[in-house]
Amino acid sequence: MLRNSFIATLTFAVIHVLPALGENTTMTNNLKVLVSSNDFPESGLEVLRKHFTVLQSRFIHFGEEGITENKEELLNLIPGCSGLVWVSHHPITKELLDKAGPSLKVVATASAGYNHCNLDELKARGIKLANTPNVLSPAVAEIAVGLILGAARRFTENLDQVRRGEWEIGFNKVLGQDVRGSTVGIVGLGGIGQAVVKRLAGFEVGKFVYTGHREKPEGKALGAEFVSLDQLLAQSDFIVLAVPLTSETKHMINSTTLAKMKKNAILVNVGRGDLVDQDALYDALKNHQIYAAGLDVTTPEPLPKDHKLLTLPNIFILPHIGSATVRTRSDMGVLAANNVVNALSGKPLITPVLE
Ligand code: DGY
Repeated sequence: MLRNSFIATLTFAVIHVLPALGENTTMTNNLKVLVSSNDFPESGLEVLRKHFTVLQSRFIHFGEEGITENKEELLNLIPGCSGLVWVSHHPITKELLDKAGPSLKVVATASAGYNHCNLDELKARGIKLANTPNVLSPAVAEIAVGLILGAARRFTENLDQVRRGEWEIGFNKVLGQDVRGSTVGIVGLGGIGQAVVKRLAGFEVGKFVYTGHREKPEGKALGAEFVSLDQLLAQSDFIVLAVPLTSETKHMINSTTLAKMKKNAILVNVGRGDLVDQDALYDALKNHQIYAAGLDVTTPEPLPKDHKLLTLPNIFILPHIGSATVRTRSDMGVLAANNVVNALSGKPLITPVLE
């Protein structure tokens, strides 16, 4: 008798009380979430593991490995997954979405840019998409400032001299351009563009101008003047590209727009490589039609080591490291993970692209 009532109490507890205690997790922990790379930050994985069964690729989702071994791995792991955390700039293919099937409800890309995310296919299947803007703006803006200085002060040539042990010594040698007193033009005054202006405030810039779809209140607060793209190209000593890649912005820097720049203009790109027609940029730099360029993004990535851009002394190129700091990558991981948690527990995405 006593034994029976003990069993009844235990059964009641298992069915009613324990699930209530762990309400948040039991709601979702039978759901599977796939993380596309073996180097996603632990902080993001911790968030996911509290809620879901987490599957993670054994491979890194970048470069060659991402398009060979990892591709097969992801196709094998994705069936039945409800969420996908995408950790690279490789395109999300229709094949992968087909394999995922109708269980897939949300994709969170650990990047601000989402030009690789196949929006049309996601939309057609009703899959939500989140990105990780804002948390990376400070780090990307720091790299933009680095590129401004690197291109203006001829880091490529100077580093080369140091490596060769052949310094051009002289009062009038390897002279660069000042940021002080210059006009800095920001193409796209979003989070990154604004962070660039804030960081350059201490450089005694003469004037900030910006262009975009519309004038922004933040522009006024930062003391930046809204101008047309043509006005920006004609006035700026430094031109910083901080816009997403879309059909509208693809090759926005081309032979026509380069021809509108000042002879001392320095072009900086922290957006995507395809914002710039690289053949036209090569010609403009080679012919000293503009002064220099600093790029954190190129087409393709990695840029082949025998690429013609790398033969130029007046270009300073980094390997897409804009958001690559320990803190920022962790913040991006946590934000991507929390977007998945929200989507799969019926809450709005924190940073939605498609909802
Ligand atoms: C982004 O998040 O889009 C940056 O390019 C870093 O990957």
